Amino acid sequence: MRYPWWRLLLFCSVAGVPCYWLYLAAAAALGPDPGKVLVDNLGQGALVLLLASLAMTPLRILTGWSGWIAFRRQIGLWAFGYAALHLAAYLYFLLGLEFSEFAAELVERPYIALGAIALAGLSTLAMTSTRWSMRKLGKRWKKLHRIVYPTLLVVLLHMLWVVRSDAGQWSLYATVAAVLLASRVPSVERRLVRTSAVWRGEQAANKGRNNG
Ligand code: HEM
Repeated sequence: MRYPWWRLLLFCSVAGVPCYWLYLAAAAALGPDPGKVLVDNLGQGALVLLLASLAMTPLRILTGWSGWIAFRRQIGLWAFGYAALHLAAYLYFLLGLEFSEFAAELVERPYIALGAIALAGLSTLAMTSTRWSMRKLGKRWKKLHRIVYPTLLVVLLHMLWVVRSDAGQWSLYATVAAVLLASRVPSVERRLVRTSAVWRGEQAANKGRNNG
């Protein structure tokens, strides 16, 4: 297993955050509507992790360190984990486990349907993230995993519908998403690869000169 300590540290930090939020909720430190705060925090957490997982490939290109890719799968799976907890918190705190109300909720709050589509996308990605799926799907695996991009756009729409006029935080996420999506456009990616190779080459040459 490569980078086991980093992985363990990442696991403990990402798993610890929802536990801390739950502790705050139990200690009545999340305000008058802790259920809503938990739903919102878990939703934003899922979005941040999704963006972080998408940042791993551009980071590898920019830094030349392949270790970033070791985290990509783990962070992506956590994005799905947070989204599943977000749904569970919604069903428990906001819907009060009244599943018969769900259809009425879909009519009243259509953004929930967008959330469900995004969760279906993340579930597909999580279920096919195993080595077995990679082997079985071959070249189709890469194609299938491109659904992460439309999934991200659906999540952003879902959030925008919720926050509507108060879109400051949303704009920040949307800007990061736009930069990450742009970095994967083939012509941009080729230019990034070339620029970072030149930059790293210059750095290595400078280091050599300084040491020599
Ligand atoms: C069946 C799936 C889903 C349901 C039922 C659902 C439900 C909700 C609800 C009810 C809210 C608004 C809560 C409030 O009143 O403040 C919300 C907000 C949000 N959801 Fe979802 N959601 C789903 C999937 C997702 C997924 C997959 C993501 C991200 C990967 C996500 C990210 C967010 C974000 C970022 C917000 C805004 C939080 C904020 O206002 O701070 N949701 N969701």
